[in-house]
Amino acid sequence: MLDTREELVEEFENVKRRKKIGDFKVDKSERLYKEKELKEESYDIFISRNTPFVTRKLRDIENGQVYYTLRFKNEGKDVYKDVKASTLVTRRELLTLSDVGLAVTENNAKELINFIDLYINEHNFEQEDMTSRIGYIGNKFVHPQDKSINIIQESGYQSLIDAFKAKGNLDSYIEDVFNPIRNEHTAVFFMLASLASPLLKRHEIDPFIVDLSGRTSSGKTTLLRLCSSIWGSKELIGEWNITKVALERKAAFLNNFPLLLDDTRKASPFMLKDIVYQFSGGKSKGRGNIKNIDEEMTYHNIMISTGEVAITEYSAEMAGVAARVISIDDPPFVHRNDYKDLYRAMSANYGTLGLAFMKEYHSDKKYYDNLFQTFETQYFNQAKGNEVLSRLGRSYAIIHTAGQILLNIPGIEFDLEAVMLQNYKAVADGSNTAYDKPKELLNKLFEQIDGKRHNLKHDDDNDDDRAETLAISKQDELCIPVLKVNEFLEHESKQTRKLWLERGFTLQNGDGKDFHKVSYKNGRPNCIKIPRPVYMQFGYDFHKF
Ligand SMILES: Nc1ncnc2c1ncn2[C@@H]1O[C@H](COP(=O)(O)OP(=O)(O)OP(=O)(O)O)[C@@H](O)[C@H]1O
Ligand SMILES: [Mg+2]
Repeated sequence: MLDTREELVEEFENVKRRKKIGDFKVDKSERLYKEKELKEESYDIFISRNTPFVTRKLRDIENGQVYYTLRFKNEGKDVYKDVKASTLVTRRELLTLSDVGLAVTENNAKELINFIDLYINEHNFEQEDMTSRIGYIGNKFVHPQDKSINIIQESGYQSLIDAFKAKGNLDSYIEDVFNPIRNEHTAVFFMLASLASPLLKRHEIDPFIVDLSGRTSSGKTTLLRLCSSIWGSKELIGEWNITKVALERKAAFLNNFPLLLDDTRKASPFMLKDIVYQFSGGKSKGRGNIKNIDEEMTYHNIMISTGEVAITEYSAEMAGVAARVISIDDPPFVHRNDYKDLYRAMSANYGTLGLAFMKEYHSDKKYYDNLFQTFETQYFNQAKGNEVLSRLGRSYAIIHTAGQILLNIPGIEFDLEAVMLQNYKAVADGSNTAYDKPKELLNKLFEQIDGKRHNLKHDDDNDDDRAETLAISKQDELCIPVLKVNEFLEHESKQTRKLWLERGFTLQNGDGKDFHKVSYKNGRPNCIKIPRPVYMQFGYDFHKF
């Protein structure tokens, strides 16, 4: 009985030199035993229903983290699991492997740890390179289909990795997918954003969002299909009903590849606001593993989002958000009312353009670096000091660069200048209030005062003294108590009031500040003063007739 078992151990996992591993033995069904001597007799004590064998050792090229691949039998089938080295030496972490079928329990965990340790010691594994995410890792660009490196992920992104695949060839992609839409300036702009994502890191551009808003059936989902067809299948598109932590992790995993998210209606508004702010920070706090290692991963990528309402609307009071979002509300397809051919072409052709694009880019990175710098200067000058436009300028410059790289792929033709112009105008011509926060906020404040007429005082007997004073209308100006202004602007107060003053929306006092003592009834509250022509220009009249 004992002998057969020893023989089987020998066959198993090619342990040639020894029949046993330490005192451990494995039987035919891969059950694990340990030999114990008792009163000069030896007994085999049962340890576990299955035995974890280590099959290889891996090293993360990004941070040196060591992983092992475990193999064990579960219900007759081989299970392979990549785990951090620390998982194999910590009881608590080893116990989590029971979820994938390892027969580890509170009772045998310690023995299993000993066994694994001996097993690793017995075998000299060659170390293989691996990465736990894709995109640029150091100087290496890891495409998910790259066979030269192991991509190991513990967070369930296998389906995402699999979605980065190619079908058809580049020529048929250009002919059947790209050419039919190449005159759609909005759609092409979004495709350029999808392509530009991997270029962010080299220029240390913070992540930003390119957002399309529009009514139902205007082609938003179709547009995301186009953006995904560059890199792979439609499974690259995610939905907005995702938690903040999951989104952060996904962004960190994709690293430099674009994050495609459809339909903001599926997200909760307060979460959207948070995400927009946080995403553009470009850092994920890897959270909550048992050892409480707060692993922070940075990422540089572009989020492409769609929704019925512009994503900036969800965070209307945050001036900072506008500078992180290119918000477009033009219809993505204007020359089209039948999408059948496009959908058919996109299911037969994908994943090829992204590869060709990276090849072209890598063939002359220096040249494209210079090109980016030229565009950067150009957009900076175009912003004419407008803070938001200056900041968005770098985003436009990188998208413009992507356009030029795309044009250098043989067979690709489109009007890059027209595409860029139309989509720059969309945010720069002033009609899009998302990009003029100070103006929009002042307008909202007027709107409130206008709607609450009994809170608007005129310093006469008709004033309703029981109503709270929101504003005092004087002969030449509207005075708003500083307290009320600050309540309205909340945390954006300081910055917005400064901008109002700079733009002449409010009047300066002798000290260069924006408040004045205004006599009203028995008091002299500090108020900001807005000249009559200013509010008239906004379309309001608070004057008493
Ligand atoms: N698989 C498909 N094959 C052919 N046409 C399709 C397909 N899916 C959608 N369409 C068509 O494409 C057009 C645009 O639809 P799309 O789903 O892109 O709009 P949307 O803006 O995302 O709308 P919603 O706000 O309702 O999500 C519609 O006319 C739709 O009928
Ligand atoms: Mg849709």
